[in-house]
Amino acid sequence: MSRMRAVVVDPSAPHRLALSEVDEPSPDSSEALVRVAAVSLNRGEVRRAMTADEPGARPGWDLSGTVVRTAADGTGPAEGARVVGFLPSGAWAELAAVPTNALAELPDGVSFEQASTLPIAGLTALYALEKGGGLVGKRVLVTGASGGAGLFALELARLAGARVVALVRREEHDGLVREAGAHAVAVGEDGEAARGYGPYGLILESIGGAVLGNALSMLAPEGTCVSFGVSGGAESTFDVRNFFYAGGAALYGFIIFHEVLAQPASEGLARLVRLVDEGSLTPRIEVVEDWTAFGAVADRLMQRGFTGKAVLRVGV
Ligand SMILES: NC(=O)c1ccc[n+]([C@@H]2O[C@H](COP(=O)([O-])OP(=O)(O)OC[C@H]3O[C@@H](n4cnc5c(N)ncnc54)[C@H](OP(=O)(O)O)[C@@H]3O)[C@@H](O)[C@H]2O)c1
Repeated sequence: MSRMRAVVVDPSAPHRLALSEVDEPSPDSSEALVRVAAVSLNRGEVRRAMTADEPGARPGWDLSGTVVRTAADGTGPAEGARVVGFLPSGAWAELAAVPTNALAELPDGVSFEQASTLPIAGLTALYALEKGGGLVGKRVLVTGASGGAGLFALELARLAGARVVALVRREEHDGLVREAGAHAVAVGEDGEAARGYGPYGLILESIGGAVLGNALSMLAPEGTCVSFGVSGGAESTFDVRNFFYAGGAALYGFIIFHEVLAQPASEGLARLVRLVDEGSLTPRIEVVEDWTAFGAVADRLMQRGFTGKAVLRVGV
């Protein structure tokens, strides 16, 4: 079997991540073989790689690159097509076998770097916003608004016609989130600052802890809070009365790997890529490095050393 380089979990490496030689993938009949050009990092996968994954595990969700072998069943992009793809693991590698229902073709106007930011952060923002139904004129609160998923959510909510409120914990992020689409910005650690701009028809909540607890009492009648992250804390308490008094309020537990079973990643990615191509969606890339810098960039991501997305060029 031919060999390639990939990022693997290595507890003895400085940041628990190391480049290593592994077997090349053997695609199933419904998978295309992609030569990876760029990947982006997400908080969830880095957290897992640095704390929970076993030695030898192959992390990586987001990738862009070129199809070097079309899927044997004839589905999906042809050989030579530039693509973006989404995997449950193993994207941080020179080659990846990607199911064709998790691939979308890239127009010339979308770079590999831009495309690599879209799978987890962009799909999460897109599919979570769709839990709110029609958004025209609706008040939407995005917590963790200065992060990768949050910035895409602000932009997409604004595009969809919502009245968009961003919750950030640092005053200095006011300009960033307004530029991404926020009509109003609330600043604070526990989320209370967002109450005055509500009640909300939809809340995209990724902080957890006190922010989730408070958000649940800011919903409008029939409003939905989509909980998808715990950047600030995994345990939350709240006064249940303030939640159900709104009438018809709902809490939705969102995990992208479940959502793509109902709505394949290929569909959402194709929509996101079109928006980037026409200039309506702007991936905010803050860091671009060669993949040899993997561990150090992952560390900076976890320390929140930058906002927006980090992209790594693969194979260089
Ligand atoms: N369920 C799913 O399918 C799914 C999909 C995607 C993401 N997620 C989760 O959603 C969250 C956001 O993901 P991401 O990729 O956007 O992460 P990210 O780029 O690292 O952004 C994190 C955001 O959370 C804020 N934050 C971090 N620690 C905080 C704390 N202790 N208190 C308050 N705010 C804090 C950051 O604010 P600063 O800018 O001020 O640091 C930033 O706005 C993560 O927890 C991730 O695991 C889940």
